[in-house]
Amino acid sequence: MKHSRIVGTGSYLPEKILSNADLEKMIDTTDEWIFTRTGIRERHIVAENEFTSDLAVKAALQAIEVAQISPNDIDLIIIATTTPDRTFPSTACLVQEKLGIRNNCPAFDIQAVCSGFVFALATADNFIKSGAAKRALVIGADTMSRITDWTDRGNCILWGDGSGAVVLEASDDVGVISTHLHANGSYADLLMVEKGVSNQSGLNTITMEGNAVFKVAVNTLDAIVDETLEANGMAKSDINWLVPHQANIRILQSTAKKLGMSMDQVVVTVDKHGNTSAASIPLALDVAVRDGRIKRGETILMEAFGGGFTWGSVLMKY
Ligand code: UT7
Repeated sequence: MKHSRIVGTGSYLPEKILSNADLEKMIDTTDEWIFTRTGIRERHIVAENEFTSDLAVKAALQAIEVAQISPNDIDLIIIATTTPDRTFPSTACLVQEKLGIRNNCPAFDIQAVCSGFVFALATADNFIKSGAAKRALVIGADTMSRITDWTDRGNCILWGDGSGAVVLEASDDVGVISTHLHANGSYADLLMVEKGVSNQSGLNTITMEGNAVFKVAVNTLDAIVDETLEANGMAKSDINWLVPHQANIRILQSTAKKLGMSMDQVVVTVDKHGNTSAASIPLALDVAVRDGRIKRGETILMEAFGGGFTWGSVLMKY
C-alpha cells in the first residue's frame, strides 16, 4: 500500500494586526487578562475585500512552490473551512479556479471547525492510500473575524484569520502513520454559530460556553494522545514534535504535560496568531518547518478539538 507524505508547506496571514492593546480600546479587557488566560498577544484580521479563498490561494502557492510541482499536477483539493466565501460553490472550487487548475480534479470543503485540518488531512491520506489520488492540496483557511461578535469580550479575544496548506503526495516512504477522527454532536450548543443557511434564526456570530469547552477539550485531547500512541504501539518519547491546534496556551501546556514533553517541543503560534480555527495547525507546521525546527524524518503529532464537538489527531513522519 502507498503511503502519503508532506512534500510542501505554506501559510499566509493577513496584513492587519489587532493587538491586545487595540482590543483594550474596543471592549472592557486588559492585555494582562487576555495573555494570562489565553497566551494571546495579537492576531491578524482580513481586509474588507479579502476572503477565505484569497488566504487559501496564498498559502497554496507557497506549498506548491516548495513541492516543486505545477498547480495542474494536483489531483485532489480539500479545504477545511467554517467560513467559506459563498454558501456554494465550495471554497475548494473557487481555489481550483484561482490556481488555474484545469484537470477537473475533485475539489471540496470539509467543515469540522477547529478540527477541520486534521479531518481534511485524514481524508486526503485515505484518498492517496486507496490509490484514488496521487497528489493532494490540503488547506486550512478561515476568516473567523467575520463571524466574531466584537462586543463579546468572553470570546472575541480568541479569534484570528489565516491559512496554511500542504501538498500531500503518494510515496513508498512512510509519512502519515495513522489518523484518528471523532465527533459528538450532543455538545453542539456549547460552541456554535446558531444562524445558518437552512436555520434562519438565532445569532450569526460565535457563541461559546468557554469554561465548559475548555474542560472537555483538555480531557478529550488527553484521550486522543493515548489512543494515537496505543494504536501504533509507540511511547510518548517517540514523538519529536507536538503541532497542536492553537486554541489557548493552557490547553497546549496540558497536552504537553500529558506527553511528558517540554514546551520546547511544542510549536506555539497562539501568541501571534490567536485561534485561526482550521488554519492553525498548517500555519504552525509551516512556521516550524521554515524556521528549521522540524526536520525530515522527525515524528510529529498533530491534534485538534473544536465545535461539534469534533476532535482528532494525525501522527506522521515529516
Ligand atoms: O478552538 C476550540 C474551541 N475553543 C476553546 O478551546 C476555548 C476554550 N475556552 C477558553 O479558552 C477560556 O474559557 C476563555 C479564554 C474563553 C475564557 O477564560 P476563562 O478562564 O474560562 O474565563 P471565564 O469565562 O470563566 O471568565 C472569568 C472572569 C469572568 O468574570 P467574573 O464573573 O469572574 O467576575 C468574566 O466576566 O473573567 C471575565 N472576563 C473577562 N475579563 C477581562 C471574560 N472575558 C474577559 C475579558 N477581559 N476579555
